[in-house]
Amino acid sequence: RPENATSPTPLPGLPLERPAGCPFDPPTEFARIRAEQPLRQMVYPDGHVGWLASGHAQVRAVLADPRFSSRAELVHWPIPGPVAEQTPEPAPPGMFQRMDAPEHTRYRRLLTGSFTARRMRQLTERISEVTEERLNAMERRGPALDLFQEYALPIPAQMMCEVLGVPYEARETFQRQAIATNDNSLGPEAQYAAFFELQAFLQGLVQAKRDQPTDDVLSELTKSDLTDEELANVGSLLLGAGFDTTANMIGLSVFALLRHPDQLATLRAEPDLAEGAVEELLRYLTITDTAIRTALEDVELDGQLIRAGDTVTCAAQAANRDPQKYPDPDTLDIRRRATGQLTFGHGIHQCLGAPMARIEVKVALVELFRRFPDLRLAIPADEVPMRTDADFYGVKSLPVTW
Ligand code: HEM
Repeated sequence: RPENATSPTPLPGLPLERPAGCPFDPPTEFARIRAEQPLRQMVYPDGHVGWLASGHAQVRAVLADPRFSSRAELVHWPIPGPVAEQTPEPAPPGMFQRMDAPEHTRYRRLLTGSFTARRMRQLTERISEVTEERLNAMERRGPALDLFQEYALPIPAQMMCEVLGVPYEARETFQRQAIATNDNSLGPEAQYAAFFELQAFLQGLVQAKRDQPTDDVLSELTKSDLTDEELANVGSLLLGAGFDTTANMIGLSVFALLRHPDQLATLRAEPDLAEGAVEELLRYLTITDTAIRTALEDVELDGQLIRAGDTVTCAAQAANRDPQKYPDPDTLDIRRRATGQLTFGHGIHQCLGAPMARIEVKVALVELFRRFPDLRLAIPADEVPMRTDADFYGVKSLPVTW
């Protein structure tokens, strides 16, 4: 039975500081930690001694194992700040990302059919139309402009609205609220306020769909046995998870390609590489840094004993740069087969919207560089403001010209 007696002292905390000069690399300490001990004890801001998984195999093993729970009330938060100081509470009904089977299964099953790869491929044409409208709007406006606000954000926001069934007029309100719920710099009170506003809006929307169903996911869900509260929360989870993430992925991918002109030239010359390029950008950029789990029972993993109640932070950003899985991991290489990248998570909670996000990012990148072949940054690269205070990484704005 492993005793952990030979373990090095626990890490004092989660590495957070990214290296100066390369906005795409994870904190440098991860490389050393992963090489020394890819599953290692770590002290959490509340004093809990839990774990950090930083190797690809270890992160995958934890995320695939039902002995590790996603339940919100069990978690110790790894990042210092207001969230770490709160007492964690169970996820409200419908917020299934922070639930385990069988509760999780019940909700997820209701949605799976609406988000299959096949259903999403049927959306491709609509995604192309929305993308083209944004490109036309950019052309009308002329350079220079903020590509994040004018392109990366509105495409997934509009698609999420259409899929879910949010009317066009309500878009700006929900967009603002959904972004605020994810923005940790606002502090928990403002985040909660935005969350409750969004929920009130969604409750109204659920009622409207019950009265007059339309052709969308929310209307479809009103046929299930979910209560109004559950429906509103599922809607809010989809909004919270579904467009700000994709917007950041598009924005950061454009920035990365502009900083790797050889890769951009390859993609422009061979658009057939686009699918693989998106997979590699997901790996290289890992906008969703961490997934957090808590052991429900004692688990032996990698020669270590993780005790019941221990929280494990799964650092996807370190796992996706693991040289044992991806040779030369710090190089962006769109010809690489980046299969198994963990940016959409792994296991039963693997991103429901991954097929949709993959298509949106692919279409957005290919069409942008086709329409504006000489697109370039309008400010020095080291002045691009990075978004480090949300649950996922990205650019706050991306001034470009052409
Ligand atoms: C779950 C990332 C886009 C809906 C997840 C998880 C990750 C993730 C890492 C797993 C979290 C965990 O294990 O705790 C991303 C990224 C996206 C993206 C990087 C864009 C590039 C989307 C879209 C939608 C969506 C477009 C909706 C259409 C969800 C939902 C879950 C989820 C509902 C919870 C799944 C569950 O718990 O079963 N996402 N996501 N995501 N995502 Fe995404």
